[in-house]
Amino acid sequence: AATLTILGLESSCDDTAAAVVRQRAGARPEILSSVVEGQTALHAAFGGVVPEIAARAHAEKLDLCVEQAMAEAAIGFDDLDAIAVTAGPGLIGGVLAGVMCAKGLAAATGLPLVGVNHLAGHALTPRLTDDLAFPYLMLLVSGGHAQFLLVRGADDFRRLGGTIDDAPGEAFDKTAKLLGLPQPGGPAVETEAAKGCATRFAFPRPLLDRPGCDMSFSGLKTALLRARDALVAEKGGLTRADRADLCAGFQAAVRDVLAEKSRRALAAYSETDPAQPAFAVAGGVAANAALRAALKDVAAEAAAQFVAPPLALCTDNAAMIAWAGLEMVRAGHRDDLTLTARPRWPL
Ligand code: KG4
Ligand code: ZN
Repeated sequence: AATLTILGLESSCDDTAAAVVRQRAGARPEILSSVVEGQTALHAAFGGVVPEIAARAHAEKLDLCVEQAMAEAAIGFDDLDAIAVTAGPGLIGGVLAGVMCAKGLAAATGLPLVGVNHLAGHALTPRLTDDLAFPYLMLLVSGGHAQFLLVRGADDFRRLGGTIDDAPGEAFDKTAKLLGLPQPGGPAVETEAAKGCATRFAFPRPLLDRPGCDMSFSGLKTALLRARDALVAEKGGLTRADRADLCAGFQAAVRDVLAEKSRRALAAYSETDPAQPAFAVAGGVAANAALRAALKDVAAEAAAQFVAPPLALCTDNAAMIAWAGLEMVRAGHRDDLTLTARPRWPL
């Protein structure tokens, strides 16, 4: 296989990102640059991502991110083999900004274009960071998604189960909002949880009584809201300890659900590929240390290889898009200037 160098663009949520990934023949891939321009400050006053503001900021920042990624990689457009861009799913204004930027670059340079599914980007990231062969079981947990995937190839995913309502990242974000913690909620709730007692509040573990690996997180949010309101009614407010205990109880419930459902998914998948079971996690929520530790234990119980990318590659970035594009180019895939942005795009 030849050396491939790919520029990736990502703009489907609230991070504008550009990155260059290269893989030399027979070698491990290298991230030559990875620029991520977050928009947290722009949305802070609104308690969540505002699509219009996000789209405008992406359109403004994409060119700069590309310039910076190319400069840090110390390469020119002549050195590239393709331009990969997130073509969905996500907030359509942002996805469109990315696709238009990539099309402009492709038209100007004559380079081929590759439209990447954002979820495929997350799901293939463990192969960027580790020696991980197809097939593997993947738990993808982010702000918008929670699913178990059997990953059989760069463009071959089978969904084994997933959330029937909220994504866990969304639950972390809402928990933070209910408790007056900053957004994005995941890191804030994790920090609070580390100081709290996980057993003071008995939060539900939804769907554990049902077979299969579907999950539910919306009931957890309701339980947290009730517990908070009960404390407020009783004492007129929350103490620091209350807040920490609520976070700890919430995180423990998410951890237990993800761990038990992973156990089941791993058992189901091991039956199909018993020789070399491998379990990978990705997505923003996989940045949580307590959750990672629990999932690592589940993999160890099943004697499965465990791969969890470093934190910066779990949350949104463009190296994962460049890498997924590289895998797709290797698999013979190309798009052209008719590529469209898709708000919904199941794997
Ligand atoms: O993958 P991602 O960056 O964006 C997409 O949703 O595609 O995931 C963002 C989500 C947010 O909901 C954020 O609160 C959550 O990942 N997250 C975390 C942590 N860091 C980020 N959740 C729990 N613990 C964390 N440390
Ligand atoms: Zn994501």
